[in-house]
Amino acid sequence: MNECFRVEPGGALAGELQIPGDKSVSHRSVLLGGIAEGVTEVNGFLESEDCLASLNAMRAMGVTIERPSAARVIVHGVGLHGLKAPAGDLDMGNAGTAMRLSMGLLAGQSFATQLVGDASLSKRPMERAAAPLRLMGAVIDTTHGKPPVRIHGAGPLTAIDYDLSVPSAQVKSAILLAGLYARGVTTVREHAITRDHTERMLRAFGVEVHSTMGVQASLTGPSTLRACSIDVPGDISSSAFFLVGAVLAAAPRVVIKNVGINPTRIGVIEILKLMGARIELTNTRVLGDEPVADLVVEKSPLKGIDVPVEWVPLAIDEFPAIFVAAACASGTTRVTQAAELKVKESDRIGVMAAGLQALGIPCEVLADGMVIHGSDDPHPFKGGWVDSHGDHRIAMAFAMASLRSSGVIEIADTANVATSFPSFEVSARTLGLRIEGVRR
Ligand code: S3P
Repeated sequence: MNECFRVEPGGALAGELQIPGDKSVSHRSVLLGGIAEGVTEVNGFLESEDCLASLNAMRAMGVTIERPSAARVIVHGVGLHGLKAPAGDLDMGNAGTAMRLSMGLLAGQSFATQLVGDASLSKRPMERAAAPLRLMGAVIDTTHGKPPVRIHGAGPLTAIDYDLSVPSAQVKSAILLAGLYARGVTTVREHAITRDHTERMLRAFGVEVHSTMGVQASLTGPSTLRACSIDVPGDISSSAFFLVGAVLAAAPRVVIKNVGINPTRIGVIEILKLMGARIELTNTRVLGDEPVADLVVEKSPLKGIDVPVEWVPLAIDEFPAIFVAAACASGTTRVTQAAELKVKESDRIGVMAAGLQALGIPCEVLADGMVIHGSDDPHPFKGGWVDSHGDHRIAMAFAMASLRSSGVIEIADTANVATSFPSFEVSARTLGLRIEGVRR
């Protein structure tokens, strides 16, 4: 039996929505809280399978974590050197962030660990994190470049100055976390902007981090962390599905509340605005270390664009939703320099192209992106069956396609929506999507 979404055409979105906590920030809150001195209180934690993988890994290494409610987490930090060897493998499930950040955290421990993942994570590249950590003195084996990843206990690490060839916040973060255990200045140099939640949160924990967005980040180790309290903003990546849904079929508008608008994450808003979307940011404020706003979104006619390459890394998780918007835009949309999409939870270029084509949308796969031929047709999608390949964001993106479809859309293999947005189906239905979960 396979969990699926069945989505009927004719829905429209209206009302207000509170988006659950940011996945990236939630992972970091338990990892950093676990190695801090003292008790860290996290509010707005995303209770999803991915973030629970990080939380359970910390528990398995001796960190006491209380959960007075789903979104409130109290982490009793054990200090930089207080983690203990886990009794077995650390299972990171579907979560690339949990695995790559943990590699950095565990590189400088005196005990050995083995990190494993599900079928999707077991196909994803881990050498990009292992290679710089080895330069710091870590002893790490990957399995032909992929999980399982074995981290042998290491002596003190050495600080490095590392040029990041792939634009990856996960790799940058792994190096910075290992840098906490290394004597001297660890620097990561970047050629594109990647999300900076690690830098911001380390500062909240009292670590001096010097950084320039998209250029470099550095810290001096060894450095202890002082417990703090963390407010997790709503996840802009989860809001992206409703942003697109509202642009395609709001009646008359949708308000998405408390969304993180960290400047390293706002590509989806900028790209949709370039396409003609009417999105207004209101009630802009700072929550803890991160800026947030309420997004007011109206139904808007869209036009196809060449997505400016500088926005690509800032919207990297949102392309499944952006591709659905592009199908409903007049003219052609071209996305290039987005080869990273091929190594996400699925090959998001190949899987999205197959799904779009199955629903009648002409598109072409490029080596580093996709070309989508949109149309003015109010219902460019015909009904049909698409396979999400167990990729949460692909499942949620195609659910929104039903708002501009002439027939029923069935999306297969949707259980992994629980990795990032367990309440998606209920929220979508409440706002007006004609969605139901079925088993086939
Ligand atoms: C993440 C970074 C991004 C993103 C992922 C979460 C993070 O991956 O795609 O969903 O929390 O650091 P890369 O850093 O590999 O691009």
